[in-house]
Amino acid sequence: METNFYPLTQRRIRTDTHIRELTAPVKLSHKSFIQPLFVDEAINEPRDVNGLNGVQVGTVDSTLHTIEEHIKQGITKFLLFPVPAQKKDKDFDFSFAARTIQKIKEVFGDEIWIATDVCLCSYTSHGHCGILNEEHSQLLNSKTVDVLSHYSTLLANAGADCIAPSDMMDGRIGAIRNKLDAMGFEQVSIMSYAAKFSSQFYGPFRDACHSAPNSKGLQNRKTYQLSPFNINDALASALRDEKEGADILMVKPAALYTDVVAKLKQQTLKPVAAYHVSGEYAAIEALAEKGLLNREAAHVEVWAALQRSGADIIISYASGSAKQWIENISI
Ligand code: PBG
Repeated sequence: METNFYPLTQRRIRTDTHIRELTAPVKLSHKSFIQPLFVDEAINEPRDVNGLNGVQVGTVDSTLHTIEEHIKQGITKFLLFPVPAQKKDKDFDFSFAARTIQKIKEVFGDEIWIATDVCLCSYTSHGHCGILNEEHSQLLNSKTVDVLSHYSTLLANAGADCIAPSDMMDGRIGAIRNKLDAMGFEQVSIMSYAAKFSSQFYGPFRDACHSAPNSKGLQNRKTYQLSPFNINDALASALRDEKEGADILMVKPAALYTDVVAKLKQQTLKPVAAYHVSGEYAAIEALAEKGLLNREAAHVEVWAALQRSGADIIISYASGSAKQWIENISI
């Protein structure tokens, strides 16, 4: 029987790890990574987070230790989520967040860069990201923006390098920028949660921060977070944030939204960050626990996808392992 000859066209550049490494346009580096940190005022011992292997909600002291461990792994950029002991609906007390940042900066100074999440969802008794009207049927945009801009100045004053508003109110980036500038914090940057979708994949995070919406009125975040069905709104919101003064534009979740990362990257010269969120992370962990995939390789594969789609910055709960995994996993 005659055997046809089909010449190799693409397979020669897949022959071994050497040539695969040489020819891959995506080169990951742990230097692009940000590690999220949770700090809870109400606890004396760190607690685990359901589904988020390797991540704990810390006390201030244990968080200092976590940062130190990350520095040893080459990770020097962090995103802090402060969880206050008291839930309120107004007259919020931001002193724990400010104290925490101050302490962290006192210990580590310029050795690290730290952004602080700015949102009210871990502060409010109803779990929404801002202030609700009396009937709990609406989230009040302007009132919330006023509170968030004030909060941002307290964090900047405490030493935060960057403010990361995740509330999704309209106009908050401009308001925060103006207030920071007016108070002399021109050097403090803003990483806007520019395209933040209303997603099922924040579940483990809400557990960690006690921040799931539980109001009898407004039941979910769909009136302020983006619809997964509307990329136009995502791009318009992100480009609006850029105009208002955001220094970094974030897309979140990340792995399910690489189309948004790619399209945003085409329309902006600002750095784009992709936040591989808690539920996305936990999904990999759950599959790994079932023996259905290789944990390390799966995380690295997602990171490659994020960078390939245009992300300059990756926010991952496994940042501490990034250097080791990137080096060890052969491509
Ligand atoms: C607060 C906030 C959330 C996340 C970051 N900031 C949760 C939410 O909007 O409900 C999610 C992060 C994650 O899931 O890893 N608004």
